[in-house]
Formats: sequence, C-alpha cells, structure tokens
Amino acid sequence: MPRIFSGIQPSGELHIGNYLGAVRNWVQLQHEVESFICVVDYHAITLPYAPEDLRRRTFEMGLSLMAAGIDPAKCTLFVQSRVPEHTELAWIFNTITPLGELERQTQFKDKASRQESVAAGLLNYPVLQAADILLYKADTVPVGEDQVQHLELSREIARRWNARFGDGFFPEPQPRLTPTRRIMGLDGQAKMSKSLGNTVGLLEKPDDMWAKLRPAVTDPARVRREDPGNPEICNIYHLHKAFSPPATVDEVATKCRTAGWGCIDCKKVLFENLNAELTPIRARAEALQADPRLVTDALDAGAAHAGTIAKGTMAEVRQRMGLR
Ligand code: TRP
Repeated sequence: MPRIFSGIQPSGELHIGNYLGAVRNWVQLQHEVESFICVVDYHAITLPYAPEDLRRRTFEMGLSLMAAGIDPAKCTLFVQSRVPEHTELAWIFNTITPLGELERQTQFKDKASRQESVAAGLLNYPVLQAADILLYKADTVPVGEDQVQHLELSREIARRWNARFGDGFFPEPQPRLTPTRRIMGLDGQAKMSKSLGNTVGLLEKPDDMWAKLRPAVTDPARVRREDPGNPEICNIYHLHKAFSPPATVDEVATKCRTAGWGCIDCKKVLFENLNAELTPIRARAEALQADPRLVTDALDAGAAHAGTIAKGTMAEVRQRMGLR
C-alpha cells in the first residue's frame, strides 16, 4: 500500500488556488491510500514573520483543511513543529546534501532575491522537506509542478543516505502531480498567491467572491459583447474546467468563440458552480469556528500518531549512523 505525504505552508485561510492545486486532490486520495498531511510551520519561519501571526495562521490552515474535506479519521493531519524529529532528520540530511544542489534550487533563488538578508534556513528548506517525507518513508508526494525540483532533491538525499548507511532503508519518493494545472490570480498576471494579493479565499462570503469575480481579467480580445474570444487564454475558462460539469465547459468554449454570450454571463455560470462546491465547505468551516476544539483535538491526535512513526524511524536512523 502506498503512503502519501504532503505539506502546506500555514498561510491562514486556503484560497481556491491551493484548493485546486493540491488540497482537493488530497481529499480524494485520503480515501484510497494511507495519507499524511502536514502544516509546515518550521518551513514558514525561514522568512521573516510575527509569532502571534504564525500561531493564528497555523490554526486557520488546520481549520481550512478540515473544512475543505480533509478528514482526521481518514488521514493523519498534524502541525510539523509538534513532531520535532522533523528537524533532527533534517540536520542529519544536511550533512549529506551537496551545497551546490541547494544553491541551484529555483525556489531558493527566487525567494533569496527578494530578501535583504538570506537565512541559512532558507537555503536548507528543501532538506527539511526531504526529512518531512522520509521520516514517514512515504513513497508518493501529491504536489503541484512547482515542487518537482524539491522532490528530485529528496530522491537524491534518500539515495545518498541509503548508499552510506542502509541500502533500501528510505524509499525514493515520487511526485504525483495534481490534475488541475496551476490557477492564475484574478488579475490574470501571475499564479494565484497570497503574497500577490490576487486570491479568492475558499471561505469568503458569496457576495465578496462575486465582487472579485465580476471584474476579473478575461481574454483581452473581448472588448465588446460581440467580439469573439479564445477560451484557452481565459482564466475564467480554466476555472470553469475546475468547477463546472463537462457539458458546461464545452458550452462555455463555444459561446466564447462565437460571442454567443458576454463575459459577465460566463462568470455568472461559473459563480453558480463555484458556490455549489463551496457552500458545504463554508458550512463545515462555520461549525469548526463555533467549536475550535474539534480542530485542536484533531491536530493533537494527528501529532500523536505521526510522532509514534517518527520516533521509530529515528531510532533506526541513529542506530545505523552510530549515534548514541
Ligand atoms: N514546499 C512545499 C510548498 O511550499 C511545502 C512542503 C513542505 C511539502 N514539506 C513538504 C510538500 C513535503 C510536500 C512534501 O508547497
């Protein structure tokens, strides 16, 4: 039976970009395979942050994940810093990871270029990610395309450790890419992301959602109602593919190409389908907000289960490495 592990930054409330890019896939997978989903607060502290903020965002991410359908009875949902073995294994992996590989990671170069002073932890971020996965000997990692390079490095770390200390001990984790391609922000300029302020929150009120959707960028060729468009370059069409039934998606493409309707008509239909999927998610979120213990208890139980496995792995790792 495969075992999956995936992680998400504690950015607070989920937005539809990370829902479609990862979380919806996890919700599906938890029914099929043994699943570990981790809110990675140790990763979050590699960039400047405020402690109170981090605590709130970590809780909100746990709540959002449960509202989105992550079921603690089906899946081990936990917060990374509750299982300190993550950092112990990361330290160990640091001793076998080539510096050059870390300096070549595109995410590191991107993030470092936007920082005045770069912490060593930012460089070592993917080493901690390898530790997350391998601590549970997970063989499959459901992620978006942007994590493929980090996973290549995880496999290299597994190979190197195995070669020195224990043949076949760690599996080489493979990515399992999310079916939905990455979702652009409503400005149509870049990937939907919290730091760019172009997101739609998963738990936003319908009115607020419509206020963002209505002026969202479409195919710029559709200046007037009667100008035909190309759905392939329209972000709204890609959102239809994610939320609307196949027959509607076909209809959207045709009506766009033939100027059979205007962009606002198209957005209204999207809004309906979006609400059909998000209404039960919002309802679950409200129930969890009314009773936050449901979230903290689930995270406690998740950390206890994860901790048991992590301790077992670390005992063997120390043994094979001559530690203690
Ligand atoms: N780096 C991932 C991201 O930013 C988050 C992450 C941390 C992760 N540890 C992981 C993803 C382990 C998959 C597996 O999205």
